[in-house]
Amino acid sequence: MDGTSSEPNSMTPEITGDPVAGRRILLGVTGGIAAYKSVELARRLVDRGAYVIPVMTKNAERFIGRATLSALSSEPVHTEIYDDSDPIVHTRLARECDLIVVAPATARLLGEYAAGISRDLLMNTLLASEAPVILCPAMHHEMWGHPATRENVTRLRGRGVTIVAPEHGRLAGGDLGEGRLAETETILAAISERLGHQNDLAGYHVVVSAGGTREAIDPVRFLSNHSSGRQGYAIARAARARGARVSLVTTVDLEPPVGVETIEVVSAEDLNREVMALARVADVVVMAAAVADFRPERVAPQKLKKADGPPEFVLVPTIDTLAELGRHRRTGQIIVGFAAETQEVERNAQEKLIRKGADLMVVNDVTREGVGFTVATNAVTILDRDGGRAEVPLAPKSTIAHAVLDRITELLGEKLPSPTE
Ligand code: CTP
Repeated sequence: MDGTSSEPNSMTPEITGDPVAGRRILLGVTGGIAAYKSVELARRLVDRGAYVIPVMTKNAERFIGRATLSALSSEPVHTEIYDDSDPIVHTRLARECDLIVVAPATARLLGEYAAGISRDLLMNTLLASEAPVILCPAMHHEMWGHPATRENVTRLRGRGVTIVAPEHGRLAGGDLGEGRLAETETILAAISERLGHQNDLAGYHVVVSAGGTREAIDPVRFLSNHSSGRQGYAIARAARARGARVSLVTTVDLEPPVGVETIEVVSAEDLNREVMALARVADVVVMAAAVADFRPERVAPQKLKKADGPPEFVLVPTIDTLAELGRHRRTGQIIVGFAAETQEVERNAQEKLIRKGADLMVVNDVTREGVGFTVATNAVTILDRDGGRAEVPLAPKSTIAHAVLDRITELLGEKLPSPTE
């Protein structure tokens, strides 16, 4: 995996004080008179060090030229869902950005986004993305005031979308009213606020392990478990979005989050070596990996043959990385373990937290529906050493990731007054 680290702005942003600098911002432009103002927005964002990815709808092209927006953004304009060189362009765009801003956003876009209907690349990208979204509506004042638009706006706000309300002013056709695209300064302030809020891990180095380890039996077989690695990846992606430098030690071949250093490993032993090396300089280590507790004592040098009868395995314990981290922690370092349990869930997890010397233990009951390894959702309880507990109800793994990071940033605030790097 290359971690796409050659991208100009894919590296962890420097702490410049400007939350926009170094961020990947997807700028959606829909078809309205105000579309020309998106060019100025793109230019201002690029000037502040953002990497701007422009996406235009077909109607937007009636109002501004692709060449103009491409020239002032960081890469050429995208418009097509189907692109020969990249058959799933919307999922790539959706994953690779830290924020989506649509300016101007038409009544059609508000309606389709509220209803989850997709007919073009911009809507596909919005629906595929977990990044924060800012919509800047612009339309005739009757349309802005229509009950359908009001309902759509309320619904979108309820889902966490920031709506930068249009301003009062002169509209197309010479009318006066509320519907004019907000000033560029207002939109920039909304972007800074949304990203700034998420910059609370800037300067910290977070190490995350993900996936189930594979312990070789012979050259073609291994012992493993059902872990998909998705929760670990969600934590790595969320930590990166909040400004951390992130190293992901993984056993699975999922698409690496942009800007995250990815290290592939196979066995518990490999994982231990890589995590312990990174832990020497990390501020936070999150052990989301499902590490095998035992491995075959010896790996057969040749493939075991059925004709030789059922093999007998002697299993020996692997190194417990979490416990080792607990024993060798740096001053102020935060160590987080995961516990997937099937019975006496919290009692087992609390005992593990103390035994392994972790600061937090993220516990889930994998017998519950919608919880566990292969699904996209999870529900967890976050336990701390002082007996504190926080429940995070069933939610996408990205939401769980942010809840875990919220708890980590609280602890960092108590232990480390400022970033160490
Ligand atoms: N872990 C680890 N190294 C191991 C085993 C587990 O670092 N060899 C970590 C996991 O990444 C996880 C935590 O320890 O963060 C709890 O893992 P779990 O397998 O539930 O703990 P065990 O001590 O193996 O307990 P159990 O008896 O439930 O298997």
